[in-house]
Amino acid sequence: MSIAAFILAAGKGTRMRSDTPKVLHQLAKKPLLRWVIDAVSVCHIQDIFVVYGQGGEQVKTAIALEDLAWVYQQEQLGTGHAVQCAMQACTKVDIDQVLIVYGDTPLISAQTLTQFIKQTPVNAVGLLTAKFDEPYGLGRIIRDAANNVTAIVEEKDASKAQKTINEINTGIMLIPADHLKQWLTELDNNNAQNEYYITDVIAMAVQDNVEIAAYCVADNSEVQGINTRAQLAHSERILQMKNAEQLMDQGVSFADPARFDLCGELECGRDVCIDINVIIEGTVTLGNNVKIGANVILKNVSIGDDTEILPNTMMEESHVGKACTIGPFARLRPGTKIADHVKVGNFVETKKAIIDSGSKLSHLSYIGDAVIGKNVNIGAGTITCNYDGVNKFTTTIEDGVFVGSDTQLIAPVTIGKNAYIGAGSSINKDAPADKLTVARARQKTIEHWQPPKK
Ligand code: UD1
Ligand code: CA
Repeated sequence: MSIAAFILAAGKGTRMRSDTPKVLHQLAKKPLLRWVIDAVSVCHIQDIFVVYGQGGEQVKTAIALEDLAWVYQQEQLGTGHAVQCAMQACTKVDIDQVLIVYGDTPLISAQTLTQFIKQTPVNAVGLLTAKFDEPYGLGRIIRDAANNVTAIVEEKDASKAQKTINEINTGIMLIPADHLKQWLTELDNNNAQNEYYITDVIAMAVQDNVEIAAYCVADNSEVQGINTRAQLAHSERILQMKNAEQLMDQGVSFADPARFDLCGELECGRDVCIDINVIIEGTVTLGNNVKIGANVILKNVSIGDDTEILPNTMMEESHVGKACTIGPFARLRPGTKIADHVKVGNFVETKKAIIDSGSKLSHLSYIGDAVIGKNVNIGAGTITCNYDGVNKFTTTIEDGVFVGSDTQLIAPVTIGKNAYIGAGSSINKDAPADKLTVARARQKTIEHWQPPKK
């Protein structure tokens, strides 16, 4: 059986009151539409047609995926019209069934979709429904006395009695392609919204004696459509709570799972503890016994066993080894590579810094384009002057060096093994190994100095 998926994503998203097309609003920093595409892709559906309209090229650019067929719906005349557009576009593809999914239902899982496809008999119309305590605004599922589905009625067209029905249309349907082609020609817009509703095909199927195989979804949170900012925020919390629950099942501790954001992939060793308001982005790997303090942001980083990241630290594209302490208030920028037993303290910023084991940078430093050896001590306020306004230069600090506080290292410069640099130095020439180098004006006291007279 060959299945094509039509993902409807052309709608105005009026209720978002936004200049950004609705389907580009994000959940866990990923566009809503991308969530749906990813779920559908996992179901081994080769031909995916995305109907876009509002936001035009912006939508295509933001999704930036190959192997998608984009269908432009110039005027948004309704979900039925959107499906008509997709159907016209897929004439070249030989398909048996069409899976319809809305681009504003991002939490649908690949698992639920796969099961839905498997369950639906080939010649039937598969319909995924849900029971909502508050069905307001959604299409209601109408059943006859024998409990068979006979139609879907939209909120705005529903009678008082129909509005009390709490079984709703999730928007997910699987329809035999030949029937769908026929029904699409019969759609009209004689309804409260003057739109072509795809939901009208249900009544047509009943008319044509095509079986409606309706399945009620097990987890309502998967089919929460997003029409408003409040629904977006609500879905974000659902998603994040699921993420935290999954991690807790794997043995991760959270100070408060409700205050955690995972926007990417997180892999954890044993006994990882995560404090409140931690944000994980991209791909992050944490070793055993890693502790992440409050308000820490980690983006594309890996952290070794027994390392502690103290509160308010930001790390990006960096690696930290084992048994280190980083922060509080440290900022590790891209290209930072830290070995084991290193201490990076408060208000230290690093960028493209390779720091070997046992070194300490305890306070208030900027270390950029630097290679630091083993057991080096960087005093408070040390700055690598790596940039002359045009080019970047490297500072090399060999093993065992002690850099006194408030030192400027004007790159390119090398500090030899076990050297000492006197506090307050401006070092612009290489400093030899095993020696004390001081580069600052000599202190003098003016003996016969008098304070100015008032
Ligand atoms: C729709 C369903 C409703 C269902 C609900 C589930 C219809 C008529 N109604 O209502 O039964 O309970 O979803 O969330 O289908 N779109 C287009 N082109 C258009 C119009 C819409 O591509 O011309 C897309 C939108 O971008 C959106 C999706 O279709 O992703 C659904 O449209 P929306 O306007 O949100 O429909 P609802 O009112 O939520
Ligand atoms: Ca919707």
